[in-house]
Formats: sequence, C-alpha cells, structure tokens
Amino acid sequence: MIQFSNVTAAFDGHNVLEDVSVQINPGEFVFVVGQTGSGKSTLLRLMYMDVMPEKGAVIVGKYNSQTIQTNEKPYLRRTLGIVFQDFRLMEDRSVYENVAFTLHVTGTPRKEIKKSVLRALADVGLSHQRNKMALELSGGEQQRVVIARALVNDPLFLLADEPTGNLDPTTSWDILQLLKAINTRGTAIIMATHNHELVKRMNARVIEIRDGKLIEVKDF
Ligand SMILES: Nc1ncnc2c1ncn2[C@@H]1O[C@H](COP(=O)(O)OP(=O)(O)O)[C@@H](O)[C@H]1O
Ligand SMILES: [Mg+2]
Repeated sequence: MIQFSNVTAAFDGHNVLEDVSVQINPGEFVFVVGQTGSGKSTLLRLMYMDVMPEKGAVIVGKYNSQTIQTNEKPYLRRTLGIVFQDFRLMEDRSVYENVAFTLHVTGTPRKEIKKSVLRALADVGLSHQRNKMALELSGGEQQRVVIARALVNDPLFLLADEPTGNLDPTTSWDILQLLKAINTRGTAIIMATHNHELVKRMNARVIEIRDGKLIEVKDF
C-alpha cells in the first residue's frame, strides 16, 4: 500500500503539494493528471523517496519517509518498478542485458536472473527480440524494454512518469494496453500523463493535481 498523510512538498520555499492525503492500494490502476508543473513527477518522486516531504508522511509498504535511512532507499526502490519518460537504455547492449542489468548489480544468481529476465520480456511481448541491440528497436519497443526492466523485480507497484510522452498515438495506445495487461496480472500501475485522450479511453481511477491539492476525478 502507498499512503500519503498530510504531505506538503516544496522546492525553494514554494509548495508544490500542500497537505495532501491519499491512499493507493495493491492492484489499482491510477492516472495522475494535471498541467505541466502541477506536481505529477513530484508526486511519483515522493513515492520512491527521491523527494522527501516537508511535512507529513509518505508510507510505501514497510517504509516510512519519517524514519527511512538513506541506505534503505535502494531496497524501497527494488519493491517498485519505475519508468521515466526519457527512457535511458544502454544502446550498445542487448535487450536481454538491459533488463538483466540491475539484477547483476544486486548480485542475483545467474540462473535466477535468466528466469526473471525471460519472464519480464515475455510480459511485454519482446521475447523474440532479446538478442537485438537496444538501438535497433523502434521507440515503442524501446519503451517496452524499459517497462520490462521495471518489472524484473516483480514489483507490487509500477510508477510510470509520462511513459507515452515521446510516442505517437498508436504506439501510446499499445503501451497503455500493455500496462493494462500488466495490471490485470496483479501489478498496481500509477501513471502520470497529460494525454487526456488515453485517460478518457480507459476506465481507471483519475487523480488530478490542481493548486497543490489532489482531486479524485469522477467521469473524466
Ligand atoms: N528539483 C527541483 N528543484 C526546484 N524546483 C523543482 C524541482 N523539481 C520540480 N520543481 C518544480 O516543482 C513544480 C512541479 O514540478 P513537477 O512535479 O515536475 O511537475 P509536472 O511533472 O506535473 O510537470 C514545478 O514548478 C517545478 O518547476
Ligand atoms: Mg513531470
């Protein structure tokens, strides 16, 4: 579970979020919408504690922003899958190696790595492309690799910050369908977007950030 209790987040003395409380449960699909600069990325960064609240508490599973130690943050992040808009793949490495990378870094046994990577690639429909170089793939395929990389730890929550921001409408819709399928298999999805067409076409929870407050939008 992800819970915000009376969270205020600020940069340089300016409040981006003010006294915000919200709860997101395992298995949910939630869109976060709002104008550019409204605080969508900040909301997600609070969840993986890259930004810390000025006031209040962010609770993610067993981690609490008020008590977490800096050296625990990597462990928190391993319980989440994180997808950024400007996906950064290692272009000179294969698809397989890109997805395997974090598992190598954390010292996972080779046999386990193989199992996890093949499962994650199957989940995004890219098993057949595993030996290609990342650079050889289309933009949509590259974003699938990024999603596979985020799924490799089998996270309870997948956080996606404008994952379709650089993609054409058809590819964006495909990526959204993929996220929906991943959600159906049990992973909660929290997706920041300003693509209102996508949000309208999906029957999901919508949270809007406006003037530092969160609004639950019915009938988006
Ligand atoms: N690291 C930072 N330092 C200073 N200001 C920041 C920083 N990150 C974000 N902001 C400011 O916080 C506000 C919200 O930003 P952000 O969460 O990125 O919005 P969104 O993702 O909705 O476009 C903006 O005014 C932005 O300029
Ligand atoms: Mg943003």
